[in-house]
Amino acid sequence: MPMNRTSPRPVTAVILVAAGSGERLGYGMPKARVPLAGEAILTHALRGVAGSRIASQICVALPKGDLELRALCDAFATELKDERGAGADRELPVLTVVDGGSTRADSVRAALGALEDSTEAVLVHDAARALTPESVFHRVVDSLASGARAVIPVIPVVDTVKTVEETNGDDARIAPELVTGTAPREKLRAVQTPQGFEFATLKKAHEAAASFDAVQSAAVTDDAMLVETLGVPVHAVRGSSQSLKVTTPLDLIIAEGLLEGPLGARWLEG
Ligand code: CTP
Ligand code: MG
Repeated sequence: MPMNRTSPRPVTAVILVAAGSGERLGYGMPKARVPLAGEAILTHALRGVAGSRIASQICVALPKGDLELRALCDAFATELKDERGAGADRELPVLTVVDGGSTRADSVRAALGALEDSTEAVLVHDAARALTPESVFHRVVDSLASGARAVIPVIPVVDTVKTVEETNGDDARIAPELVTGTAPREKLRAVQTPQGFEFATLKKAHEAAASFDAVQSAAVTDDAMLVETLGVPVHAVRGSSQSLKVTTPLDLIIAEGLLEGPLGARWLEG
C-alpha cells in the first residue's frame, strides 16, 4: 500500500552497504576503510546519513569479520551520543551492524533481516557515496512520504551514450568495437543512492532475487532494478554530482578536493 499522501515522514531505516572489497580503488583493503581527508570513507558516510536526521535506524553491512570497521562504527555511535550530550535536540538513530555478503544484493538482504519491525521505509545507500548532501536524503524521503513506493536520485548524463558490440574477423583489426546505436541523451539519467523504498516492497523484491543464479546476480547493479521487475513504479528525484561513488583513484582525488575546497568540510551542492 502506498503511504498516505498527507502523512509525515515514515519511520525510516537507512541500510549503508559497506561490505565491498574496493578492488578498483586498489588500496588492498576494503574501500570503507580507505582514508579520505584523514578519516575512513565509512566515517564520512555515517556522518552524512546521521546528519540528514531522517533515520531512526542505520544498519551497516560490513565485510565479514572486519574488526577495524566494527570499531569505527562503535566510535561513531559514541560520537553521536556525545553530540546529544552536548545538547543536540534529536533522537539518536539505532546503529546496527551486520555481516555483508559476496554481492551487493546479498549485503542489502542481510541488512533487511536486521531492521526493526516498526520500519516503514528503507533507504539503501552506498558507503562509497560518502559525500552525498543531506538535501538528497530529504528529497528521497519526502517523495516516499508523498506516496512513492520506490524513488531514486538521478542526474542528467553529460556524455553522449552509445551501444556497441565486440568486433571480430576483419573488423577486429580496425577497432575492438563497432557502434550499434546512440541512446537519446535527454531521456537518460545516471542513477545514484540513497534509493528509497516502502519496506515491504523492497523485502519482496530481494526475496525474489535470493534464488537468482550467478549470471542474473551479476546483472543486478541497484535495488530499483529488482523493484522494477515487480511492476512497481520507480520515481526519480534530483541527485547531486557531489554524490559521486568513490570507485577509482581519480574519484578519491575528486572527493579529497571537495573536502579541502574553499567551502571547508563539506562542499555543498543542493
Ligand atoms: N558492497 C557491499 N557488499 C558487496 C559489494 C559491494 O556492501 N558484496 C557495497 C560497497 O561497499 C559499496 C557499494 O556496495 O559501498 C557499491 O559497490 P562498489 O562501488 O562496487 O564497491 P566495491 O564492490 O567495494 O568496489 P569494487 O567493485 O571495485 O571491488
Ligand atoms: Mg563492486
